[in-house]
Amino acid sequence: MQPLSPLLTEVQHHLPANGESRRLFYGRGQCFSGYDDVVIDYHPHLILICLYRQRDAAWLEAMAAELRELIADARCVVVQYRYQQGCPVRVVSGEAPDQPEALEDGLRYHLQLDRGQNLGFFPDMAFGRRLVRQRAQGKKVLNLFAYTCSFSIAALAGGARNVCNVDMSRSALELGRANHLLNGYDLRDASFVAVEVFRSNSRMRKLAPFDLIVCDPPAQQGRSFTAQTHWPKLLQRLPSWVVPGGELMLCLNGPHVEESFLEDLLASYLPCAELLGCLDSGEDFPEKKPHCKTRLYHLRYHS
Ligand SMILES: C[S@@+](CC[C@H](N)C(=O)[O-])C[C@H]1O[C@@H](n2cnc3c(N)ncnc32)[C@H](O)[C@@H]1O
Repeated sequence: MQPLSPLLTEVQHHLPANGESRRLFYGRGQCFSGYDDVVIDYHPHLILICLYRQRDAAWLEAMAAELRELIADARCVVVQYRYQQGCPVRVVSGEAPDQPEALEDGLRYHLQLDRGQNLGFFPDMAFGRRLVRQRAQGKKVLNLFAYTCSFSIAALAGGARNVCNVDMSRSALELGRANHLLNGYDLRDASFVAVEVFRSNSRMRKLAPFDLIVCDPPAQQGRSFTAQTHWPKLLQRLPSWVVPGGELMLCLNGPHVEESFLEDLLASYLPCAELLGCLDSGEDFPEKKPHCKTRLYHLRYHS
């Protein structure tokens, strides 16, 4: 059995505080030899281990016991088998909560442990949600590729006037609606538009203009989104959706692109956008190749 200690030593540097969700271990960035296949998250009372290849049951049980000892308020450990069809989640220790939730900066998000690969909440975008919350006061916000609307929750917490959530997945937006209710927001302050972004230009124009646009597409998703094809299209359309002087937050996910991919596109398609900052997912998500980190480009659009 592979030793547990290097992994647990790393977990000790990322322990949760105040019962809030946190990434405890991120092996996918290839910084921990022998553990590239392991990711561990904490959510209130719940530890979630994601495995990207098979490990033996004895290793898992020992890991679950050690983690529960380290994190006293974890009542259960579940494992998601990312290498199996449908990415099933099974309990290895304790009893899974009926309605699991993520908790970040006091805001709550539903988790769905039985929904396949993505469980409803992406911990690596915490830094983006914080920035949106800081910048949202009084603004009309467009949340493109909204998924379960976590940016909308953060924007409303920051005093946004209104948020329009756009995603082609009706079921993701349904969960997004539920996230608004979970946090006590009035659904009149948010809208949920289930469309394919690139086939809905006239609809998007009618919804515009926006003071702040958050754009967090997948790294790659079948024909719906590929970085090389769809980022240029997106950058070409943004000027017709944002007010002059408005802000853009463009999130680049995943390792499929060159280091300067988005900078180069910005220079070609949005030369008059001023770069206000470029942030990344931070110390809980170590990457051997730093440019593979999830990044957010914060820009001001000057027409
Ligand atoms: C990475 S997730 C977005 C995460 C989200 N911003 C959050 O805060 O949790 C990508 C989302 O993009 C949506 N999507 C992918 N291609 C799309 C397209 N062409 N039009 C509309 N939605 C799309 C998917 O349905 C998925 O919900």
